[in-house]
Amino acid sequence: MSVKIETKPVSVRTFLNRKSENKKITVLTAYDCSTARYIDEAGVDCLLVGDSVGMTVLGYENTLQVTVEDMETFTRAVSRGAKHSLVVSDMPFLSYQVSKEKAIENAGRLIRAGAQAVKLEGAGELTLDIIKSLVEAGIAVVGHLGFTPQSINSIGGYYVQGKSYEQAVKLLEDAKKVQEAGAFSLVLEMVPEEVAKIVTEKLSIPTIGIGAGRYCDGQVLVIDDIIGKYGEFTPKFARKYADVKEIIFNSAKKYDEEVKSGVFPSEEHTFKMEKSEIEKFENYLKQIKGEK
Ligand code: KIV
Repeated sequence: MSVKIETKPVSVRTFLNRKSENKKITVLTAYDCSTARYIDEAGVDCLLVGDSVGMTVLGYENTLQVTVEDMETFTRAVSRGAKHSLVVSDMPFLSYQVSKEKAIENAGRLIRAGAQAVKLEGAGELTLDIIKSLVEAGIAVVGHLGFTPQSINSIGGYYVQGKSYEQAVKLLEDAKKVQEAGAFSLVLEMVPEEVAKIVTEKLSIPTIGIGAGRYCDGQVLVIDDIIGKYGEFTPKFARKYADVKEIIFNSAKKYDEEVKSGVFPSEEHTFKMEKSEIEKFENYLKQIKGEK
């Protein structure tokens, strides 16, 4: 049974207000309508249609194969389930890095699919320019620094970012640039807690941490990690609140056994004909007896 939490829709302003009121922001990924509805009803502030969908739903090894078409489909599904949560959609790999025009066009597709904002990774010159152009076009943008999954091949694996003094300075300076470019919030992924704390204190926009410690203005996790559905691994920074993988496995196993042994379906799962209709049907069968 779900408990409906009545709240006003979350907007970009809510994010900024939370920071000034020193109240935490909650974000979870979602990829389908029913899961989005449950998360929304639970009172989570923001649904991120992450390109992690490539791994959690589509079965890819990383996020690089996800397309704008994929993101449009999942964004449509999630936005149908969102009544109060802000829907943010990830711009997939190479959907914004090629040109400003392409970036605006692709971000527009995600907004038309139902997102209220888009998220993109990095703080290179082109990316900063693209954030500015999107904001100028009226599109709300979330930045993403630290470990940026779309750069997995150039990073060389899942490594914590900003561990050295030089990297920490760069991360802080990049974060300021993303803010300056017009992003209304910034995801910090796999960053030492000490660095995330300073970045959070130095920015006026809220930071949303994932593996970035306790001092960010909000937290984001991948829904499949917290419900124990993603079978490959659970990252160190995620807390597992349920074991959905086991629930699915046990239910499928029981179903398989019951169908094969004739226990399911039982009478309660069947539909019946009226007696008079059965009689007519039996008469018909007598007439066609012997025919194939
Ligand atoms: O794609 C995603 O799920 C994300 C989160 C890890 C922040 O970008």
